[in-house]
Amino acid sequence: MTISQFQEKFGIIGKSKEIRDLVDIIMQVAQSDISVLIFGESGVGKEVFARAIHGYSKRADNQLVTVNCGAIPEGILESELFGHRKGAFTGAVENRKGYFEIADGGTLFLDELAEMPLTTQVKLLRVIENKEFMRIGSETVTQVDVRIIAATNKDLQKEVDAKRFREDLYFRLKAVTLYIPPLRKRREDISELALHFIKLYAESNNLPLPHITNEALDLLTNFPWTGNIRELKNSIETAIALNRTDVLDVQSFSFLLKSRIEEKENRNLPVYVHRTPEESDREMIYRALIEIKRDLMELKQAVYKNSQEVQNKDNNNSHINVDEVVPFDVMEKEAIRNALNYSRGNKKQAAKLLKISERTLYRKMQEYDL
Ligand SMILES: Nc1ncnc2c1ncn2[C@@H]1O[C@H](COP(=O)(O)OP(=O)(O)OP(=O)(O)O)[C@@H](O)[C@H]1O
Ligand SMILES: [Mg+2]
Repeated sequence: MTISQFQEKFGIIGKSKEIRDLVDIIMQVAQSDISVLIFGESGVGKEVFARAIHGYSKRADNQLVTVNCGAIPEGILESELFGHRKGAFTGAVENRKGYFEIADGGTLFLDELAEMPLTTQVKLLRVIENKEFMRIGSETVTQVDVRIIAATNKDLQKEVDAKRFREDLYFRLKAVTLYIPPLRKRREDISELALHFIKLYAESNNLPLPHITNEALDLLTNFPWTGNIRELKNSIETAIALNRTDVLDVQSFSFLLKSRIEEKENRNLPVYVHRTPEESDREMIYRALIEIKRDLMELKQAVYKNSQEVQNKDNNNSHINVDEVVPFDVMEKEAIRNALNYSRGNKKQAAKLLKISERTLYRKMQEYDL
């Protein structure tokens, strides 16, 4: 298989040297059982690469089990990973397999690895070294054959220095380390990614394929994309959803510039310097709320206009039009998308804006495929 065929098969877009070199490495290491550690900022494609490694390995017919170490409450993570015996603790009403057993013969993808509690790290190292473990509350040993891929957006060496991550586990996992560079370091990939996401969104929403102008592509190519590919994908979806014609031009992406300008203005505001972090956080939350409110007002107006048109057409006497009923999940997804767009993919900040915990946000992002 060539690099291009591999990229096609696993949906990895990008012709930059950085991406092609990474693909070259994963094609070499995928077949072995060696652990792989993937580093990279939020939204760079860590999960995409983990899937490709599993998909190209001899384990591809078995499961790839993804565990988000940051999303599972600390007390539950161990029993989720290793399973438990009936009666091992209150609530353990039956024997239960953990992810290690489910992934037997396959791959376990430990996402947000740096969030794993130290006590769980000890147990993880033991399983990796001995290929066996005990379910919680059990005295018999279970053997498993699992390949580990782990990902994090934190600098693990720093976590080790700060004693938040075990050095022995770090050494064990870092045999093959992949670093996925941020989008701003491989700008030549942006156009291709943008065209890909436009096509994807139009197809999955049964829309005619929008055309994007060269100026708009230039704007996207030069944008900082601190939230990386996820931010680019979200922005394309927002632009298409709000666009009134099927041409995406610079104007269609004005929301990107607006938030950048606001950010810059905030930075230049002398009064801002004197604010405490809490105050600036609050200010940021207000701004996001105002933006959400503005969006809601626009949405309301659009829905109202639409319903008026329908009512005029069929002279329907009913006071409420069915278009005015927005399902909760649609609103919720939109609210999450807005918050993530605003925070440029920073989940901690987005969760704060949405007034939900980071774990709930992770769960909902998975639920809505964000
Ligand atoms: N090279 C790529 N080609 C096409 N799509 C990509 C590529 N990289 C990432 N994506 C898309 O971008 C989005 C974010 O990717 P992914 O979830 O893999 O990022 P991540 O690094 O795991 O992010 P996080 O740190 O936030 O978990 C997904 O929708 C993914 O499909
Ligand atoms: Mg991820």
